[in-house]
Amino acid sequence: MNESATTVTDAVAPQRGTLLAASGVTMQFGGLTALNDVSFGLREGEIIGLIGPNGAGKTTLFNCLTGLYSPTSGAVTLNGSPLPQDPARVTEQGVARTFQNIRLFPSMTAEENVLVGRHVRMKQNPLSSLLHGPGFRRSEAEAAERTAKLLAFVGLTRFSDELARNLPYGDQRRLEIARALATDPSVLLLDEPTAGMNAQETEATRQLIFAIRDLGISVVVIEHDTKFIFTLCDRVLVLVQGQLLVEGTPDEVRGDPRVVEAYLGAPPEEVEAQVHGVDVHGSEGQEQG
Ligand SMILES: Nc1ncnc2c1ncn2[C@@H]1O[C@H](COP(=O)(O)OP(=O)(O)OP(=O)(O)O)[C@@H](O)[C@H]1O
Ligand SMILES: [Mg+2]
Repeated sequence: MNESATTVTDAVAPQRGTLLAASGVTMQFGGLTALNDVSFGLREGEIIGLIGPNGAGKTTLFNCLTGLYSPTSGAVTLNGSPLPQDPARVTEQGVARTFQNIRLFPSMTAEENVLVGRHVRMKQNPLSSLLHGPGFRRSEAEAAERTAKLLAFVGLTRFSDELARNLPYGDQRRLEIARALATDPSVLLLDEPTAGMNAQETEATRQLIFAIRDLGISVVVIEHDTKFIFTLCDRVLVLVQGQLLVEGTPDEVRGDPRVVEAYLGAPPEEVEAQVHGVDVHGSEGQEQG
C-alpha cells in the first residue's frame, strides 16, 4: 500500500451517516500480516456481520477499531475524526465492545459489573464524591436505576445480586453486552456473542441484537455461525487471511463461490454448514476460539 496522506483522507471522508470507518487498515505483527488493506464503513442503524476462518484477523480488526491496536498503516475514523489511540477514550466517544473470551469481573455481582460500565458516563465533582454530597448521591441513584433497566433489557434481573462467575455461560455473555451498553455507545462491537450457546440462547441473542439496533445503536458482529449472521445482518464482510474477500448482502455473500472456496479447508459438511447456514452440530453450540 502506498497512499499519500491526501488519498487516505479522501478515502476516509465518511459517507453521510457513516459512524465508524476503516480505510486501508494493515496490521502487522513481526512478519505476520494479520490485516491487509481493509476498508469498510459502518452506517447509522446498520448491523454488519464479520465472518471468516480462524485466524483471519476478525478480532484484530476489532482491536484496531477500539484503539487497542494502532494499525501499521491506514486509518480508522469515528464520525469523521481519527480514532483516539486509547481504548478508554474510544469508549467515551461511543464505541463499546465485548470480548471473544469473556472479560467480566468474576467476583463482582452482575449489577456491579454493569455499574463499572456506567461509570464511564458519570460526571462527578471529585469533592462531592469524596464527601458523598448530593451530586454524588444523585449520580449514584441514576446509575443504579439505569443498571436495573439494562439488566432487565438483557433478561438478567433475577441475577442482579449474583456473582458474575456463578452465572450460566450464555448469561455471562449477555451480562457483558449489558456492561457495554451501560457506556451509552453509538456503536457496539460483539466478538462471537453466541459462542457456547445452545439454539434457544442463540435465538434470544439474535432478538437482543435487533432490539439494540432498534435503540439506534449500530452493530458489528463477529460469528462463526453463518446461519446466525445471514439472518441477522444487513451486510456481511468476509475476511480471509487478513483481506476483505467479499462484501455484500447475506444473499450475495451466501451465493459467492469465493466464500465457499475460503471455507474449503473444512470437511465438506462443515463447508455446507458454514456457507449455507446448516446446523451440523445439533442444538448444542460449540465454544469457538
Ligand atoms: N497481539 C498479537 N501478536 C501477534 N500475533 C497476533 C496478535 N493478535 C493476533 N495475532 C495473529 O493475527 C492473526 C489473526 O488473529 P485474530 O485473533 O484476529 O483472528 P480471528 O479471525 O479473530 O480468529 P478466530 O476466529 O480464531 O477468533 C492470527 O495469526 C493471530 O495469531
Ligand atoms: Mg477472534
